[in-house]
Amino acid sequence: MAPITRIGVLTGGGDAPGLNAVIRAVVKTATNGGIECIGLEDSFDGLIEPGRSRVLTPRDVTGILRLGGTVLGTTNRGNPFAYPIETSDGTRDYSDRVVEMFHKMGLGALVVIGGDGTLAIAHRFYLRGIPIVGVPKTIDNDIVGTTNCFGFDTAVAFATDAIDRLHTTAEAHKRILVVEVMGRYAGWIALYAGIAGGADAILLPEISFDLELVAPRLLARDRWGAKFSIVVVAEGALPRGGRRALLEEAHNGFVERLGGIGAQVCEALQQATGKETRSVVLGHLQRGGAPTSFDRVLATRFGGKAVELVRKGDFGTMVAFAPPDIVARRLEDVVGKTKTVPPDLDLLLTAKALGVTFGDEQ
Ligand code: F6P
Repeated sequence: MAPITRIGVLTGGGDAPGLNAVIRAVVKTATNGGIECIGLEDSFDGLIEPGRSRVLTPRDVTGILRLGGTVLGTTNRGNPFAYPIETSDGTRDYSDRVVEMFHKMGLGALVVIGGDGTLAIAHRFYLRGIPIVGVPKTIDNDIVGTTNCFGFDTAVAFATDAIDRLHTTAEAHKRILVVEVMGRYAGWIALYAGIAGGADAILLPEISFDLELVAPRLLARDRWGAKFSIVVVAEGALPRGGRRALLEEAHNGFVERLGGIGAQVCEALQQATGKETRSVVLGHLQRGGAPTSFDRVLATRFGGKAVELVRKGDFGTMVAFAPPDIVARRLEDVVGKTKTVPPDLDLLLTAKALGVTFGDEQ
């Protein structure tokens, strides 16, 4: 096999702090090893029109390590296998066009930085002959095969800081403060931020909750003198016998948008406890800002490893964190699955032993 001299790199799905750190690591490592990098804009859209890609040199990525967002742009619309789209030379099947453009641009491989949706698309392109290395990204930390995705630590740090701030006002007013965090169908952000922030109740998608079990636990705090409580609720948390709260149903290739459970829990807890209750949605603030040092290091290791796999010709893979190592996983073992919080996770059991309620028992 002839050595690879040019690769493409793209970012897909929702952004996460650390995307730029991966891009920087890929570009510097590849360039230092004699491989040219082409940055593809807005996920796979960059493989549709020639004008939506550009050569990236170390100069282009200098100073982006600490920046949130992505210098390449991203989108969580447009699965190329699902939609024909309009291009300057007429309506074409998007996936065919991607394969054609990949070869026309003289690319030897593609580094795809994305979450479960983007990696699933990448896997399908791998099956169509494009040499792919994936890099797992998401604040939700729900990709199987890796203990951490970059972005998660930053989201947890932000949510923890927010909970710290809410603690002081909750205590001053003797209120219950309900904090809704992101995470889709996995409760990792809620669990970690809840524990780091000293929450009294943590409601997760993995454990259906009953507020009739939560309310007495919060009132019991009043009796021993802690007249305020912090409740962290994951956006995908599931009320026992109820439904997930949605901001928007799935439509035309857009996935459903979760949200609103915090306000519902707030209202119900006010009724059940008689205490003044307020709610806050942290939303996209969790995805913004500079990555933590942990995420910068992880993203840098991921980017370096991705180029190593390209050089070895180890395609159809995803880089992954298996502490203390960065390893390769097969994409087929990863895509289409969700890493959720196991009910017997030591952290969860520790929290229960400390008296944190998950709304599932007295
Ligand atoms: O997957 C990351 C994430 O931030 C989820 O936690 C959240 O449900 C979703 O993306 C929000 O997506 P959007 O940016 O499209 O509103």
